Amino acid sequence: MNAVEVLKKEAGISACNYVKNGMKIGLGTGSTVKYTIIELGRRIVEENLEIIGVPTSEDTQKLAKSLGIPLSNLSEIDRLDLTIDGADEFDNNYDLIKGGGGALTREKIVALASNAMIVVADDRKKVSTLGQFPLPVEVHISNWENVKEHIEKLCTNEVSLRYDSEEPFVTDNGGYILDCNFGPIISDPYTLENKIKTIEGVVEVGLFVGICDLVIISSTSGVNILTKQNGRLS
Ligand code: A5P
Repeated sequence: MNAVEVLKKEAGISACNYVKNGMKIGLGTGSTVKYTIIELGRRIVEENLEIIGVPTSEDTQKLAKSLGIPLSNLSEIDRLDLTIDGADEFDNNYDLIKGGGGALTREKIVALASNAMIVVADDRKKVSTLGQFPLPVEVHISNWENVKEHIEKLCTNEVSLRYDSEEPFVTDNGGYILDCNFGPIISDPYTLENKIKTIEGVVEVGLFVGICDLVIISSTSGVNILTKQNGRLS
């Protein structure tokens, strides 16, 4: 396992300390939270942990199912105790860019239905201001070109349709992803999110503002818990 993978694993596993018997947990998507999900599966088998997971993507659903994690969805459960997920960037306000894996829409729906959100990440994801990572925006496939033109008016850098080899990348919801390079900084993520959301054809924006309560960040010097002041886990 390479050094970055080790950091992802450490952060992912540490998040399981916040999971208690009987909880309903939003299960995020990506290569870091994968380790959280594997550890939860281990605790279910070896320690009789009882939880119900709500997956944020088809990939996560498959993984969780293979590990024997009981699953449900938001049609059956209104509120979740906690969501654990990765991020592409997080800043000092605990605001996030997500969607590098294309699962941002369900990730946001599940996070918003949760009483708290924990992000697991290695220290490459920490930034002082969001914006170096191109902002993923999920769009309806019938209208993506119009949406791209509208976003280009807000964005001085490149806006590109995400590809999966030769074909456009298609999300679990059947949408496309526009990767919008608003860098080097997004100075007002809340306003930007709302501006993009008003464009007809936008499904969801990968800015998570005021949603995350705690970040578990791993680096070569160890695992650190960053807790948002006045957050839901402080
Ligand atoms: C999935 O759509 C994303 O939001 C991921 O949560 C994010 O890209 C972090 O993934 P990694 O842990 O794989 O970097």
